[in-house]
Amino acid sequence: MDQNQVSVETSDTSLRTENWEPKIVAFLCNWCSYAGADLAGGSRVKYPANVRIIRVPCSARIDPKLVLKGLEKEHVDGVIVSGCHPGDCHYTEGNYYARRRMLMFHRLMEFIGIDSQRIRMSWVSASEGTKWADVVTQVVEDIRALGPLHPRETANARDH
Ligand code: FES
Repeated sequence: MDQNQVSVETSDTSLRTENWEPKIVAFLCNWCSYAGADLAGGSRVKYPANVRIIRVPCSARIDPKLVLKGLEKEHVDGVIVSGCHPGDCHYTEGNYYARRRMLMFHRLMEFIGIDSQRIRMSWVSASEGTKWADVVTQVVEDIRALGPLHPRETANARDH
């Protein structure tokens, strides 16, 4: 990390809570990934219940400021951004814009000291319920390994 960077991540593992569960928010495009998640639910595919889903018309509509706000103010530990596979976007090329935006956003995350692993981009189609379950399972595992993004607040919430 550069000297001028400010780190908001903490390595203070003593603040990690025993009962902590990662809080993940997933922004899913309506046409593919949301339908894929719906298929997973309808098919009773099991995956961790740590994810809150926000449905958006297209992955291109996901404003990085919303993602940042979630991480900063809502004590979210990780974010999934998921849309149609490249070439399959309902609006032709929205997912290409989303992919570029998220690449830049990853760099911003690293610059402000948040591990970019906390933001995951995936392509999940309407027929990939099992893939959706795999993405969630992997992200929850990865975030669990990183620990809470806001350990103090997490510990305080547990104590009250
Ligand atoms: Fe799914 Fe654009 S409609 S990514």
